[in-house]
Amino acid sequence: MIIVTGASGHLGRLVVESLLKKVPAREVAAVVRDPDKAKDLAARGVEVRRGDYARPETLGAAVAGADKLLLVSSNEVGQRATQHAAVVQAAKAAGVKLLAYTSILHADTSRLALAAEHLATEVAIRASGLPHVFLRNGWYLENYTESLAPVLQHGAKVGSAQGGRVAAAARVDYAEAAAAVLAGKAERAVYELAGDQPFTMAELAAEVARQAGKPIAYVDLPPDQYRAVLIGAGLPAAFADILVDADVQAAKGDLDDATGDLRRLIGRPTTTLAAAVSAALGR
Ligand SMILES: NC(=O)c1ccc[n+]([C@@H]2O[C@H](COP(=O)([O-])OP(=O)(O)OC[C@H]3O[C@@H](n4cnc5c(N)ncnc54)[C@H](OP(=O)(O)O)[C@@H]3O)[C@@H](O)[C@H]2O)c1
Repeated sequence: MIIVTGASGHLGRLVVESLLKKVPAREVAAVVRDPDKAKDLAARGVEVRRGDYARPETLGAAVAGADKLLLVSSNEVGQRATQHAAVVQAAKAAGVKLLAYTSILHADTSRLALAAEHLATEVAIRASGLPHVFLRNGWYLENYTESLAPVLQHGAKVGSAQGGRVAAAARVDYAEAAAAVLAGKAERAVYELAGDQPFTMAELAAEVARQAGKPIAYVDLPPDQYRAVLIGAGLPAAFADILVDADVQAAKGDLDDATGDLRRLIGRPTTTLAAAVSAALGR
């Protein structure tokens, strides 16, 4: 039995989709907070189980019988280390034979503020003694392509990443990598997963301009000014801080990577920036 948590989210759902191409549905279970969100998976023969990272008492039944468990990291920033530790504890009690975890690129050296909770989770997983795989996911292309509307509206992409390169890949690429590890044999304990063709924010703006057929500039701002723009656009301050910090660390190279782990794991090139922009613009 392969069990995927966070299966009602974007990535978890794609992992389940990818697994269903590799193994029978009866060998896959999806852990979600709200089973109503996973009715479609249940209709396809996937066992849907209720499990809430924040309610440890729900986790034993959620992961029972798992040979392999994918812990998809929570989106509740600030509570994740505690939530994930509860899942690790449940996995240990259930005697899971492989625990895979969606971590962050270069978790052990990354200066991104987001990396701290991922590193804490990796430490907890190592301490559990469970056989494990860290799927250290880089930035999603969708982080950019799902927020193109203001870029198109203003003819500008703003940020603080300077000339830093971001080795982003599509969620579907990371999902296929997770499914490959879960349905196959994990050859390593740590994979650094990132896109084949890192790009700068100026290159991102140029690609959107090319496809949209209108001028779009990359405007690099000091971090405090970028933060003010994000808050002015209605983002909660805590989320703005995360985005600004990611850009500041990207300027130092912390979202870049050249390992090629993702391409090798999925057996194909990763999704290109051009393809992601094209899909987002409906071209
Ligand atoms: N690499 C990147 O660029 C990047 C970007 C954004 C996020 N991430 C990380 O990658 C993860 C997966 O990405 P995504 O795009 O799939 O995010 P997402 O769509 O927000 O999915 C997050 C999933 O976590 C589940 N979750 C949150 N709190 C939970 C709890 N207390 N108990 C059980 N499940 C809980 C959510 O359940 P519900 O469906 O019930 O809400 C959802 O299924 C995120 O959670 C975040 O840690 C990475």
